[in-house]
Amino acid sequence: MFAVYADSFSKDDPLAGLQVGERPEPDVPDGWTTVSVKAASLNHHDLFSLRGVGLREEALPMILGCDAAGHDEDGNEVVVHAVISDPSWTGDETFDPKRSLLSERYQGTFAERVAVPRRNVVPKPASLSFEEAACLPTAWLTAYRMLFTRGQLRAGETVLVQGAGGGVATAAIVLGRAAGLRVLVTSRDEAKRARALELGAHEAFESGARLPVKVDAVIETVGRATWSHSIRALRPGGRIVTSGTTSGPNLDDAELTRIFFLQLSVVGSTMGTRDELAGLVSMLDATGARPLVDRTLPMTEARDGFAAMLGGEQFGKIVFTR
Ligand SMILES: NC(=O)c1ccc[n+]([C@@H]2O[C@H](COP(=O)([O-])OP(=O)(O)OC[C@H]3O[C@@H](n4cnc5c(N)ncnc54)[C@H](OP(=O)(O)O)[C@@H]3O)[C@@H](O)[C@H]2O)c1
Repeated sequence: MFAVYADSFSKDDPLAGLQVGERPEPDVPDGWTTVSVKAASLNHHDLFSLRGVGLREEALPMILGCDAAGHDEDGNEVVVHAVISDPSWTGDETFDPKRSLLSERYQGTFAERVAVPRRNVVPKPASLSFEEAACLPTAWLTAYRMLFTRGQLRAGETVLVQGAGGGVATAAIVLGRAAGLRVLVTSRDEAKRARALELGAHEAFESGARLPVKVDAVIETVGRATWSHSIRALRPGGRIVTSGTTSGPNLDDAELTRIFFLQLSVVGSTMGTRDELAGLVSMLDATGARPLVDRTLPMTEARDGFAAMLGGEQFGKIVFTR
């Protein structure tokens, strides 16, 4: 079948190991099903894989891609949940120490067909296009869990989203606004601040700027560059929800004194569960909120999409269609 896959790693030239061609049909173990892919979206994870981060040499060649929407074996329209937990695991899949993401241990979604455990498909409502649905399983699910599960945010509360141009950050802005939160954002870039306001942010500030109010929670994926500002933005008892460290994981000042004195909570978050993906899909169906698609390309032109992400050209998701 047609597939987009990695056959080698390069830290400096990740596109060198990217292949667009033919791969065998996926194995379908007992309890698994096959999804015919209609649309799949690109993540930084796919570039990390080509750099050899999170993917073992013995696993090559590996079909890339975590996110997809398509048809299940009975022709139903579905969204694929990318977190594959151990068959013996029950409960929150993100807590399974043996979990993996599609394209790490099992072949990924940039192909005609992808095999997943039966419980890893969620019905796609007709109101969402395949392209929109394919944006949800990674960055959007991460933002959903950060806001509503780990961040416990409720309508009427105020959230600060750091680094407004990021994939998780833009999702958090749209979802936060749709859920009735007051959404403040920061970005280093004036154009990105303007885009964030168009997406639904109430107010946009330069990175590090003094805010007019203290916030209930911060959605933090930038790390070192914004950590201090995030801690200082919180009201007493507020929480910082962290899922990434784009600018680096090592802090100049962890702000421990403020954390204990103001009784702040630091909460980690990673990906999301199958049920949270179903909740996210249902929320978009009910509210009309939609993921931001930067561009849609035929999967045969996937290399152009990877090059755009490598060059940091996108604002929103890059989607491949079949
Ligand atoms: N744990 C999980 O499940 C999970 C899931 C998805 C992603 N992640 C992680 O989350 C992080 C963000 O991923 P993403 O795809 O959303 O991000 P992204 O698209 O790479 O963007 C991150 C944002 O960080 C900001 N930024 C970068 N360097 C900065 C600096 N030096 N100072 C201030 N701001 C800076 C930029 O905002 P401005 O240009 O607007 O200032 C940028 O838009 C990554 O580390 C990723 O690995 C984790």
